[in-house]
Amino acid sequence: MDEKVKIDGLSFVPFLKEEDIKREVKRVAEELKHDLEGKSPLFVCVLNGAFIFAADLIREAGLNDAPISFVRYKSYEGINSTGSVKQMVGLNEDIEGKDIVIIEDIVDTGITANLMVNDIKKRNPASVRFVTLLHKPESSRTGFKPDYIAFSIPSKFIIGYGLDLDGKARNLKDIYINV
Ligand code: HPA
Ligand code: MG
Repeated sequence: MDEKVKIDGLSFVPFLKEEDIKREVKRVAEELKHDLEGKSPLFVCVLNGAFIFAADLIREAGLNDAPISFVRYKSYEGINSTGSVKQMVGLNEDIEGKDIVIIEDIVDTGITANLMVNDIKKRNPASVRFVTLLHKPESSRTGFKPDYIAFSIPSKFIIGYGLDLDGKARNLKDIYINV
């Protein structure tokens, strides 16, 4: 668990441990539960990276009337943001009047996040909240500010707990940082 991992020639060291992740996921889940008590929000998990975070978060939040849907955008190739964002899977249901909670793994430039929130707001939801596991504030190109953040981190490439390098390393229980 403490060892370095090497993927596609890049070295990574442990950065956020499983127990730290659990603690912060629980904290964010409690904030959500408090803010949405008595409502039936629609959770929107952003694939692929957020699937593990979303699974843990929604179970901790204990909002039993909240369904979950999935969307997918693509902007990364290798460790570089391509700057252009493509929607690969969208929301098919009617979201008018719904309280939407977007669950993302990471916000760095904020380009995908901005696009997603703007698309959803056009469809007249009652409210939109944005939750992210990780935020890289120094990488922002949009000034986008998530409503709930588990960890703010430096602008380095990280893997694990759902986050990948070209599809690899999503399974790691800890989060590792590129050195
Ligand atoms: N790791 C994995 N995926 C990402 C990252 C990162 O640091 N930033 C944006 N997508
Ligand atoms: Mg991602």
